[in-house]
Amino acid sequence: MILATNRLILRPWCEDDAEELYKYASDPDVGPPAGWPTHKSVEHSREIIHTALSMPETYAVCLKSDGKPIGSIGFHRRDLATSDDEYELGYWIGKPYWGQGLIPEASREMLRYAFEDLHMNRIWCAYYDGNEKSHRVQEKLGFVYYRTTEGVDVPLLGETRTGHSNLMTRERWQKVNLFRQQKKLLDTFIEKGAITQAQYNKSLADLIRLMEMQGVE
Ligand SMILES: CC(C)(COP(=O)(O)OP(=O)(O)OC[C@H]1O[C@@H](n2cnc3c(N)ncnc32)[C@H](O)[C@@H]1OP(=O)(O)O)[C@@H](O)C(=O)NCCC(=O)NCCS
Repeated sequence: MILATNRLILRPWCEDDAEELYKYASDPDVGPPAGWPTHKSVEHSREIIHTALSMPETYAVCLKSDGKPIGSIGFHRRDLATSDDEYELGYWIGKPYWGQGLIPEASREMLRYAFEDLHMNRIWCAYYDGNEKSHRVQEKLGFVYYRTTEGVDVPLLGETRTGHSNLMTRERWQKVNLFRQQKKLLDTFIEKGAITQAQYNKSLADLIRLMEMQGVE
């Protein structure tokens, strides 16, 4: 499967990606916050491409502009997601690309794919305590807080952490899409000068409050 967004292509990892993968996964700020160890060599990255990154529904996040992989996104079924109609979403992106909204963009397409094409009913997403960047991604996507669990095993790092879990149901996803459409409409109105800034601010605040979309983008 190959998926596309405005700026990205999501496609399966291949062996030729090892050097690019190593470039980003050798950064200690990338793997450990997500629960996996920093890559030690290009050979190590190649091995990971053949194992973890070859799992079903795992995609290299590639820039459309040059086709090179800069991160990874995928679904797995363990821990939170236990039945056939649910998945857990996981993701990371290389540090040079942080803060451009690329993982939210990739995740929105993954959510569409999960609900529309794979007919899933629930998508989970979690982050370890202190990972505010990932917390923010999940908030922007519209995930709803589910629970906090202490003493969660992080097997690849041999430690335990506190984990926060969030949930996106099919109904919530439909509501988030509706909210984003309504917000787009307001954005068009203000761009065209059809409403004042004060009217825009009030309408947006009402929309956010009524639809329970605080923090959603
Ligand atoms: C979490 C992660 C995937 C976010 O991806 P992203 O594409 O940068 O997401 P965004 O651009 O939406 O940024 C999310 C938040 O990160 C923070 N952030 C952005 N750039 C940053 C930077 N250079 N340094 C520190 N924080 C930054 C901001 O708070 C931002 O929220 P905002 O848009 O409201 O300002 C990415 O930081 C990452 O790969 N981190 C390491 C691996 C990881 O934690 N994976 C998730 C495991 S649950």
